[in-house]
Amino acid sequence: MRHAAESTTRFPGINRMENYKKFLQEILIDENRLQKRIAELGNAISNDYKDSNDLLLVCILRGAIIFLSDLSRKINIPHAMDFMAISSYGSGNRSSSGIVRINMDLTTNIYGQDVLIIEDIIDSGNTLAYVLEMLSTRKPKSLHVCTLLDKFERREVDIPIRYTGFKIPDKFVFGYGLDLDEMYRNLPFIGVVDLEKYVI
Ligand code: IMP
Ligand code: MG
Repeated sequence: MRHAAESTTRFPGINRMENYKKFLQEILIDENRLQKRIAELGNAISNDYKDSNDLLLVCILRGAIIFLSDLSRKINIPHAMDFMAISSYGSGNRSSSGIVRINMDLTTNIYGQDVLIIEDIIDSGNTLAYVLEMLSTRKPKSLHVCTLLDKFERREVDIPIRYTGFKIPDKFVFGYGLDLDEMYRNLPFIGVVDLEKYVI
């Protein structure tokens, strides 16, 4: 007869994916609410850009990848995608340093394009302020922001946001693209971390 611990070893990942339950304080936005809101955002974007032939979704890696993939499939007009990797946080650090680094730039020339930045969460605003300033020097036809989450109480720099999924309180969240030290991005909901119970 096999022990439970042994079957965990034999099928790694099955039980370990549920580890988040140990430090999940609450589910802030469940899968249904997320998907419903994303469909609404897709409709609004499709409508606002219906006359554009040059819509480019710029995904800020890595957090916005899940949002981008669901959102783009709710947009019913032709559009391109490109990716940019930014870091403003060190692993284990829970507040934005204000120091922003570009780890991977776009490959598309955005001159004359209708650029819509797709972001997972805006917190202090430092990351997006930097990205907006940098991209505007490349002279796109238009430049707007779509964020899934807005942690508005923490804002240090004012950011013009055209599309917001949800305004959320000042709590550390994870899931649906947002990581906890690079893990748990694949969870289908947005959860709040109980930082006292979360130990690596
Ligand atoms: P900002 O520069 O302070 O606006 O930080 C934006 C970035 O910080 C986001 O793109 C996220 O990667 C990260 N971030 C901010 N708040 C959270 C959170 O609650 N959970 C996970 N990542 C977060
Ligand atoms: Mg991020």
